[in-house]
Amino acid sequence: MKVWQQPLPPIYQKLTDAELRVRIDLAKQTLGKRLVILGHHYQQDAVIEFADFTGDSFELSRKAAEQKEAEYVVFCGVHFMAESADILTPERVRVVLPDLGAGCSMADMANLDQTLECWAQLEDTCPDQRIVPITYMNSSAAIKAFVGEHGGAVCTSSNCRNVLEWALKADKETGRQGDKEKKTKILFFPDQHLGRNTAFAMGYSLDRMVVWDPREELGGNDPQKLKEADFVLWKGHCSVHQLFRPEHVDQVREKFPEMKVIVHPECRFEVVQKADQVGSTAYVVKQIEAAPPGSQWAVGTEVHLINRLAHQHPDQKIIVLSDCQCLCTTMYRIDLPHLCWALENLVEGKVVNEIKVDAHTRKWAMVALERMLAIKGTGNPVGKEQPVGTTVD
Ligand code: 13P
Ligand code: SF4
Repeated sequence: MKVWQQPLPPIYQKLTDAELRVRIDLAKQTLGKRLVILGHHYQQDAVIEFADFTGDSFELSRKAAEQKEAEYVVFCGVHFMAESADILTPERVRVVLPDLGAGCSMADMANLDQTLECWAQLEDTCPDQRIVPITYMNSSAAIKAFVGEHGGAVCTSSNCRNVLEWALKADKETGRQGDKEKKTKILFFPDQHLGRNTAFAMGYSLDRMVVWDPREELGGNDPQKLKEADFVLWKGHCSVHQLFRPEHVDQVREKFPEMKVIVHPECRFEVVQKADQVGSTAYVVKQIEAAPPGSQWAVGTEVHLINRLAHQHPDQKIIVLSDCQCLCTTMYRIDLPHLCWALENLVEGKVVNEIKVDAHTRKWAMVALERMLAIKGTGNPVGKEQPVGTTVD
């Protein structure tokens, strides 16, 4: 059952940012080691200021898994991240999402009923194949559990390539002994772009992939094409990263010929093909941190992170790849009033906005998440430092 965010008590909307900061600090001090605040890189600066750890989805899920002492994990990110934190922390750790409206439109593009229907149709159409479901971290706990129960794994943008390589060879690990002779097909949820970009970089041509539209019979595919495909890509996307278009890369190249274009693999194929570098959020951060003064970057990812990087590296020129509003509006819902409200309730012993995954879902989602955590990532699933269009190893 989905629970909606209730309006905050009016006092929290009346407090100034300075007053909210003082109260958040005080609540943090009072809770001490009982509390850990995790902040995703796309959060606004005012919130990041209070995070004990910042990172991308992969790093934060690792951090969540390490929290053995804390009583409360307050997750400044979106719903699917808080769910994963709940699964990865011991049962007694209570995970809080300061605003329940902080969801993810991409994660909402695949639900369990659609997944079950898709699975049944695929098994029917390809009875002689081994189908391995892989889901991007940006999906509900129910989809993660489905994947875990069916021999698959979760991936993030940091380790997508490694997870796909594991899936394509992992007869033993998936428990599907004796399936070695069967053709393996990957069913990839829910971001078609991450799936396509990574599979292409692994050497699969586009005609080895089909898109699965959950609103159509057989996902909208011809049965023969579906049988032949190596990758079935769920028809989902990130509404932020999909805003970047190939012409934005052309415009930057014309205006700033020295500038490097670095984009997240949730961007469309055509954008990734034109970019100089492609990588997860943490990869983008690391590349810029390691770059010498005078470096120039046009970055294709969420605007709060780009602005923060520009601020932290005044000796480099860092711009957003396009002037579109590439803002994750759901991440942006986590603000100082909601953080303050959640923490002050914890001080009073009241856990508001707890994210709790039921036991069955937890068990199988854990299997899929632990497989993910065991598989290292390079940060650039597309696997190259060179212009992506030219090197496919
Ligand atoms: P990463 O944190 O894995 O880079 O994913 C980006 C994103 O869209 C988070 O929702
Ligand atoms: Fe979802 Fe995209 Fe926002 Fe990430 S940036 S939370 S994928 S909508």
